[in-house]
Amino acid sequence: MRLSGHATECGWTWNGPDWMRQALAAAALTLAVSAGLLLWIAAGLAPRQTSPPEEASRAAEADYLRAAHDPLHFRPAIETARDAQCLACHREVLEDRVRAATPSGLKTETLRAWYQQASTYEGDQETFHRRHLVTPLAKRLMRLRCNTCHQGHDPREEAPGSSADSPSLPDNGFVLRKQVDPEASCLKCHGRFSWQLMGLPGPWPQHGPALGNDCLSCHVSIRTRRHEVNYLDAAAIESAGRQDAEVCYGCHGGRAWYRISYPYARTPWPGMPEETPEWARLRPTRSEARFLAGDRP
Ligand code: HEC
Ligand code: HEC
Ligand code: HEC
Ligand code: HEC
Ligand code: HEC
Repeated sequence: MRLSGHATECGWTWNGPDWMRQALAAAALTLAVSAGLLLWIAAGLAPRQTSPPEEASRAAEADYLRAAHDPLHFRPAIETARDAQCLACHREVLEDRVRAATPSGLKTETLRAWYQQASTYEGDQETFHRRHLVTPLAKRLMRLRCNTCHQGHDPREEAPGSSADSPSLPDNGFVLRKQVDPEASCLKCHGRFSWQLMGLPGPWPQHGPALGNDCLSCHVSIRTRRHEVNYLDAAAIESAGRQDAEVCYGCHGGRAWYRISYPYARTPWPGMPEETPEWARLRPTRSEARFLAGDRP
C-alpha cells in the first residue's frame, strides 16, 4: 500500500510533507522493534510457567510406557485376553479406514489387486485388521480374535533371545522383527494349494473346471472333519463352500502369499484309509490345543 497521496482505501488521507512522513514511519518502526525486544527479554526473565505442562508430559510418558508394557501384551496374560481389553487402548485397529485416494491421486475404489478379483471379495478397500475381523465375509466364516495372531512379543527386543533377560521361548512363537508368527497364522489361509497331495494333475485354476469347480466332489468323503476350531465357523464354511468353491479355494491357494503350503493337522475322519501316506507321517492328528479350547462358533 502506498502511504503518500490519498490512501483512500484505508479511509484516511495524508496531507503533510514527505520528510515528516518518513520520520514518522522510522519512529514507528523503532518503537515496534524495541517493544518486541523488551517483551522477548521479559518473557525470558520471567519465572518459568512451564512446570505443570512439563509434569503432565512426563506423566503421559510414564503412562505411555506403562501402557506399551501392559502385562496384557505378554504371556501368559495375552493367552486369555479378550478383544475388548485390547480394543480399550487400540480402537484404531478397527476404526481407522483407508484413504479415499492414494497420495498420487488414484481413487481407492477403482483399484483392485489380483487377490481382490475373487468372487468372494466385496465392499470398499479395507485395512488389514478390518478385513479379518469385521468385513461381511470375515464375520460369516471366521472368528479371529486379537490373540489368534498376537501371542505376545517383546517390544524392546526385535531379535528374540539375544539378551540375558529375554524370556526363553522354546516354541519359536516369537519371530525376528515380527509381532506375530506368520507361519503359525497367515500361512494357514494364505498358503499354496497342495494339488500334489490331492492327486490332482496340476493347479486348481487349470484342473478345477474339469472337476465341476467343486472341492466337495472329493471332500464330501475325504478329510471331512475340518475347521472344528474356535477361530473358524465350520458350518458356515461348509455351506458357503457348497455354493461356491471359490470360498474354499480363497483360503487354500486363492490368496497365497507363500510358495509353500501349510502342513495342516490330519484329523482322523470316518472311513479314513488304514495306511498313512508317506507325506503325512509327521503330521499332527489334531489342531493346536489352543484352538480346540474354549467356545466354538
Ligand atoms: C493399557 C493400554 C493397552 C492395552 C490394554 C493393550 N495395548 Fe497394545 N499397546 C499399547 C501402547 C501404548 C503401545 C505402543 C504403541 C506405539 O508405540 O505405537 C502398544 C503396542 C502394541 C503393539 C505394537 C507393538 C510394537 O512393538 O510396535 C501391538 C501389536 C499391540 N499393542 C497389541 C495389543 C494386543 C493384542 C492387546 C490385547 C491382548 C493390547 N495390545 C493391549 C497399549 C495397550
Ligand atoms: C489375522 C491376524 C491378526 C489379528 C486377528 C489381529 N492382528 Fe493385529 N496385527 C497383525 C499383524 C500381522 C500386524 C503387523 C505386525 C508387524 O508389523 O510385525 C498387526 C499389528 C497390530 C498392531 C500394531 C499397529 C498396527 O496397526 O500395525 C496393533 C496395535 C494390533 N495389531 C492390535 C490388534 C488388536 C487389538 C486385535 C484384535 C482386535 C488384532 N490386532 C488382531 C495381525 C493380526
Ligand atoms: C483364518 C484364515 C485367515 C488367516 C489366519 C489370515 N487371513 Fe488374511 N484373509 C483371509 C480371508 C478370508 C481374506 C479375504 C477377505 C475378503 O475377501 O473379504 C483375507 C485377506 C487378506 C488380505 C487382503 C486384504 C484385502 O482387503 O484385499 C491380506 C493382505 C491378508 N489377508 C493378509 C494376511 C496376513 C498377513 C495374515 C497373518 C498375520 C493373515 N492374512 C491371516 C483369511 C485369513
Ligand atoms: C480329486 C479329489 C480332490 C479335489 C477335487 C480336491 N481335493 Fe483336497 N484333498 C484330496 C485328497 C486325496 C487329499 C489328501 C487326503 C489325505 O489326507 O490322505 C486332500 C487334502 C486337502 C487338504 C489338506 C492338505 C494337507 O496338507 O493336509 C486341503 C486343505 C484340501 N484338500 C483342500 C481342497 C480344496 C480347497 C479343494 C477345492 C479348491 C480341494 N481340496 C479339492 C482330494 C481332492
Ligand atoms: C476362512 C478360511 C477357510 C475356508 C473358507 C476354508 N478353509 Fe479349510 N482350513 C482353513 C484352516 C485355517 C484350516 C486349519 C484348521 C486347523 O486345524 O486349525 C483348514 C483346514 C482344512 C482341511 C484339513 C482339515 C484336517 O484337520 O484334516 C481341509 C481338508 C480343508 N480345510 C478343506 C476345505 C474345504 C473343502 C473348504 C470349502 C468347503 C475349506 N477348507 C474352506 C481355512 C479355511
